[in-house]
Amino acid sequence: MQPGDIESVLRENRSFAPAASFLAGARLQPADIEKLRQRAAADHTGFWAEQARTQLQWHKPFTVILDESTAPNYRWFPDGQLNVSLNCLDVHLASRGDAPAILFEGEPGDRRRLTYRELHAAVCRLANALRSLGINAGDRVVIYLPMVPEAVIAMQACARIGAVHSVVFGGFSAGSLRDRIEDAGARLVITADGGHRGGHVIELKAAVDKALEGACATIENVLVLQRAKNAVSMRAGRDLWWHEVVDRQSALCDPAWVDAEHPLFLLYTSGSTGKPKGIQHSSAGYLLGAKLTSQWVFDLQPSDVFWCTADVGWVTGHSYVAYGPLAAGATLVMYEGAPTIPDAGRFWRICETHGVTVFYTAPTAIRALMKLGDEIPARYDLSKLRLLGTVGEPINPEAWIWYHRVIGGERCPIVDTWWQTETGAIMISPLPSAVATKPGSCTLPLPGIDAAIVDDAGNAVSSPEAGGYLVIRKPWPSMLRTIWGDNERYLATYWEKFQNRYYVAGDSAHRDADGYFWIMGRIDDVLKVSGHRLGTMEIESALVAHPRVAEAAVVGKPHDIKGESVFAYVVCRGARPTGDTRAFVDELRNWVSEQLGAIAKPDDIRFADNLPKTRSGKIMRRLLRAIARGEPITQDISTLENPAIVDQLRGVDAGAHS
Ligand code: WT7
Repeated sequence: MQPGDIESVLRENRSFAPAASFLAGARLQPADIEKLRQRAAADHTGFWAEQARTQLQWHKPFTVILDESTAPNYRWFPDGQLNVSLNCLDVHLASRGDAPAILFEGEPGDRRRLTYRELHAAVCRLANALRSLGINAGDRVVIYLPMVPEAVIAMQACARIGAVHSVVFGGFSAGSLRDRIEDAGARLVITADGGHRGGHVIELKAAVDKALEGACATIENVLVLQRAKNAVSMRAGRDLWWHEVVDRQSALCDPAWVDAEHPLFLLYTSGSTGKPKGIQHSSAGYLLGAKLTSQWVFDLQPSDVFWCTADVGWVTGHSYVAYGPLAAGATLVMYEGAPTIPDAGRFWRICETHGVTVFYTAPTAIRALMKLGDEIPARYDLSKLRLLGTVGEPINPEAWIWYHRVIGGERCPIVDTWWQTETGAIMISPLPSAVATKPGSCTLPLPGIDAAIVDDAGNAVSSPEAGGYLVIRKPWPSMLRTIWGDNERYLATYWEKFQNRYYVAGDSAHRDADGYFWIMGRIDDVLKVSGHRLGTMEIESALVAHPRVAEAAVVGKPHDIKGESVFAYVVCRGARPTGDTRAFVDELRNWVSEQLGAIAKPDDIRFADNLPKTRSGKIMRRLLRAIARGEPITQDISTLENPAIVDQLRGVDAGAHS
């Protein structure tokens, strides 16, 4: 799909100015924001250098702001040294040591409160334990934990000793975990016996055992947190209990000084083809982005209780759970489980209980909660909320208005934040005290972010409503540095299209007459299921790994709650299954779920004799997408080997249906 082909049909004219009640207490007033914008526009690198000097505590100050000699592998503040965990924890001990850093609630209802001092001690203990296990700066540590405080403690402990963490979402299967461990060459896995989710225990340790079976030769130890108290098997010499190794360590740990460019973490994300990419982030530039945006966009102040509902397995849980809010000295809420356990009021009850002031979630969650009706949130006191945020996919105006009215009581600004795993921090978003919001638009780029929309030739599109490629024209500190182990792919994926001049986000977008950005969707074939990027390739490979499947093609289909659902076309070995295929369809759906995790499970499976391909052998995904959505077919199908296949794919032909 070319961005030029996309007609933008959405015309949303409503606009919401910041409420006076919000403005009165905001950290940044409109005049401050104007100054930031002007300063950034006048001197891009000078602006970022000032922010880096004033916002971060350096062990060795930098003298070079931006090294472009290896562009587009940019290097920010390259001769400076610091420690990320010191900047998130130690800096608050004197002034806010007894203030709460984390308010935790487990799915079964257990609660814990950690002050900054307690969190600091816990991080130091684990950091010392990691050192005692021989983990050095630069070593990779895979973290596969439920949403418990130890997930943040583990990330911060890695940062403290300069180890590179790679968090793998607890919903991913053993196979996905194995691929990520192997790609990263990790020495240690930090996991738990299990975690609570949806009323069940997710057996994380068992998945680790399966992942390591006959694979992952670089792993020396598995550190196991006792959480759900489910039975696990511990392999002598390899597996260690967290409480046995960590609790006896000293609560003081000297931070390792690392170069600004030292990798802080890898986070694997899906592209349209090939295996997941290990997005590599830096230490200083990343932290600067996470901290500044926590202050600018979420207006986080010491009195705030911030709840970002994202799991630490996604980038949102890195920047707006584990790093940004702590660097900003706020209090954060962590919740382990599902939004509907024990009932559909759980999220709002958590907001009431902990006095949440700033709430950040995904459109898919908002839609799901909206479906349950207005009566449920109405039962809870949400009056402490002062700001709401969304991220992950475009939010439909209906859900936006519901969020504004029912959750925000019409007084909370909504920040619709556009960014990506690769950008590290929020890029395009309202600054809530100064930018009027429009439902469905992420509004304007933040100071220091040069976002634009360009046509195929790289020229800025001239007419307001015209769609094009969303690009970033100047480097920014929190940008990804490379793809772990595959710099060629980094160059090809993000830079080649416009000859290394612009970072290509992979989204199409347009701007309205006020210059507001409206994201229209991904340009490639990546699906967005419940806000999570899934590559078609991985799901197709999983299907093809089934002994009866010869070929598979996967597309996204719009879904009320999930945003998109997985729709798979499957070609079997031998004859096409006909008649009652339900049992086989279930088998395939569960198969994918076992291989990749429940999130990738197809909602629909349709069988065909073959797949429509172009002359060059590329699967015609646009055609498959149109068929999955029941849309009229507009593309040229005259080149198809077997035009009758279209009826079969549509399911008009008997027996093709799932
Ligand atoms: C893709 C990045 C960044 C944290 C979560 C997702 C889509 C993200 C928005 C938004 C419209 C959005 C884009 C982007 N996206 N935020 N506010 N409005 N679309 O991270 O998995 O790296 O996905 O999510 O398509 O490219 P991610």
